[in-house]
Amino acid sequence: MGISAELLGWYDRHARVLPWRIPPGQGPADPYRVWLSEVMLQQTTVAAVKSYFERFTSLWPRVEDLAGAEDARVMAEWAGLGYYARARNLMACARAVAARGGFPRNRAGLAELPGIGPYTSAAISAIAFDHPETVVDGNVERVVSRLFAIETPLPASKPQIHALATDLTPNERPGDHAQAMMDLGATICTPRNPACGICPVSDPCQARRLGIAADLPRKAPKPEKPLRRGTVWIGLTDSGVLVETRPAKGLLGGTLAFPSTGWDGSDLAPPAEADWQELGLVRHVFTHFALDLTVMTARLTTVPERGRVVPLRDFSPLALPGLMRKAWSLARPETARPRSGVAMASRSRTPQG
Ligand code: ADE
Repeated sequence: MGISAELLGWYDRHARVLPWRIPPGQGPADPYRVWLSEVMLQQTTVAAVKSYFERFTSLWPRVEDLAGAEDARVMAEWAGLGYYARARNLMACARAVAARGGFPRNRAGLAELPGIGPYTSAAISAIAFDHPETVVDGNVERVVSRLFAIETPLPASKPQIHALATDLTPNERPGDHAQAMMDLGATICTPRNPACGICPVSDPCQARRLGIAADLPRKAPKPEKPLRRGTVWIGLTDSGVLVETRPAKGLLGGTLAFPSTGWDGSDLAPPAEADWQELGLVRHVFTHFALDLTVMTARLTTVPERGRVVPLRDFSPLALPGLMRKAWSLARPETARPRSGVAMASRSRTPQG
């Protein structure tokens, strides 16, 4: 049997059960659910995405529902998932799809929509429409690098990996094939200690034969991330807290936040004259830099020059991005814990944002 037949047989027996997934062989999947899951899964783990996906699809079961939602509501539900440009593109895409009466059914049409790049258009096209597109995410890069013992480091090896992944893609069940490759990478062909003993394609795997599976893919060293510093101000009144919506463009764009400096050394003044006290430091690692934010707090006695005071009873730290949640937990540790409830409890564990 060839590699893709072995993989499909393995997928029939061992496919992960995931909230956005149709069981093997039972497609087609709903393009809305495939699209939403693929956007959420960009740079984010399956474990982190699950509860968000379930919450979004129960609030907004169809793309038309999401298209009609308010921006601030969607941003608040996205809070904690990170990479907030995705949420803004998500709304723009939902509105474009609703306006044209449904998702385009091919890759080129999908690629014209906001927030859908080459990877996502291929994934939706394969998984929702069973087109034989080549779907290459980090898991698939690892699987292919090992199957063919590619010694060239990433990212230089990407074109070669893509070409080999294309050769592997079958015309039958290409959507299941794409997901089988992802599952193999996530559960067996793992970065460290790959479980080659139970791998369905260990026979044809060249890295396994050479004894170098765990060493691949090789990666070019990444430049160290610069460290930036800033200050965030948490202003409190007797029953409220000072927040602002960040500008749509830029880091954490469109999210609810406490007023802060620009994080690039720009010297913004505190949002109000007050007796600001230092609470400590929170660190957050973004794609291109790490950030140390000094957290200040004060009781507000004058009208602030920026932001708006929201009543504490209407304020949920869960509506904040992860960095701001960390800052809040220094100011009010007793309220930083999520309310009880399964969805809320798992949302607080997400790693990014
Ligand atoms: N990562 C990205 N897309 C995925 C999918 N459809 N299933 C599992 N993991 C994924």
